[in-house]
Amino acid sequence: MHTELLTVDPQRPEPERIARAAAIIRRGGLVAFPTETVYGLGANALDSAAVQKIFAAKGRPSNNPLIVHVTTLAAAKSLASAWPEVADRLAARFWPGPLTFVLPKSDVVPALVTAGGPTVALRMPAHPVARALLDAAATPLAAPSANRSTQVSAVRAEHVVRALSDRIEMVLDGGAAWDGLESTVVDLTSNVVRILRPGPIDSILLGEVLGYEPSQVEVRAEERDGALSSPGQLRKHYSPSATVELTLDDGRASALRSATAGLRVGWLPMPREDAPPKEAANVVYCPMPRDPAAYGRLLYDVFHRLEAAEVDVIVVESPPMTSAWAAVLDRLTRAAAT
Ligand code: TXA
Ligand code: MG
Repeated sequence: MHTELLTVDPQRPEPERIARAAAIIRRGGLVAFPTETVYGLGANALDSAAVQKIFAAKGRPSNNPLIVHVTTLAAAKSLASAWPEVADRLAARFWPGPLTFVLPKSDVVPALVTAGGPTVALRMPAHPVARALLDAAATPLAAPSANRSTQVSAVRAEHVVRALSDRIEMVLDGGAAWDGLESTVVDLTSNVVRILRPGPIDSILLGEVLGYEPSQVEVRAEERDGALSSPGQLRKHYSPSATVELTLDDGRASALRSATAGLRVGWLPMPREDAPPKEAANVVYCPMPRDPAAYGRLLYDVFHRLEAAEVDVIVVESPPMTSAWAAVLDRLTRAAAT
């Protein structure tokens, strides 16, 4: 299958281009598109045969459920069999935006989308291209990140092309995704809201709406049978093919050791005034920002760049272990898991 790369204006996507993408969705095909978090790989969520193609294109295990995207509250509610009051409050504050709700599914959601489980993940994206595609297709879109299973999520169209070329019909190129990390996933199925996957909306922001700071669920998903409660919880995920080493110091010694051993190294220290790095052969120096949101925006882009540079090892200085860094720390820990 030939993959068409179609450029769209990220702010005012051209209706005739969006219409072509929507027609592919209506026919049961796959279209990758930018969202404010990462690129998504979309299919008509109500068409099991179309959804099946997502699993095939990504090489994704069928016990890993998908997020369903909508542009209206009414559409979200039609996909859930219960809609607690807390969902209204969170939607009022954070939708459209990078927050995904897990709720009991309604009968219209195919079992394949939820990996046979009783709950469905719902998100209302803010990105104009995602919204235009959803509106033109006039159906909810099941859309995981547009990468091969367990690999680093795509944050630019070229990352999608590298990973999924000839496996999908179209990539809408709307420039870089904004946040650079996947949405925060919250479980709204019980009285206490819990974070299944940390993301751009952190526990402190959620706490402002909830009245308490929600905690993050740690599930050893790979030890469980059947549908995963949150596949983002798979220990190894979001991984470049290089070995990722997470260090508590700045990583300099580790980077130089690998370089001296003849390996190609990517080195991601936190910014510091003292001791600027000496240029070392075989070391690609990627200083990272001190602000968690800016760091999140850059991380996958840097991983993709280092992947293209075919480094063997990526040495990352760990950011501070605070709530504001939860999403970045989560992705780094998983990238470093063996
Ligand atoms: O930002 C995002 O969320 C992106 C864009 C494209 O919207 N999508 C994304 O999808 O990251 P994916 O498939 O790569 O990640 C799926 C995540 C899982 O890690 C899990 O947390 C959650 O969605 N998920 C899906 N269905 C679920 C369910 N029924 N129960 C719990 N978690 C679910
Ligand atoms: Mg993913």
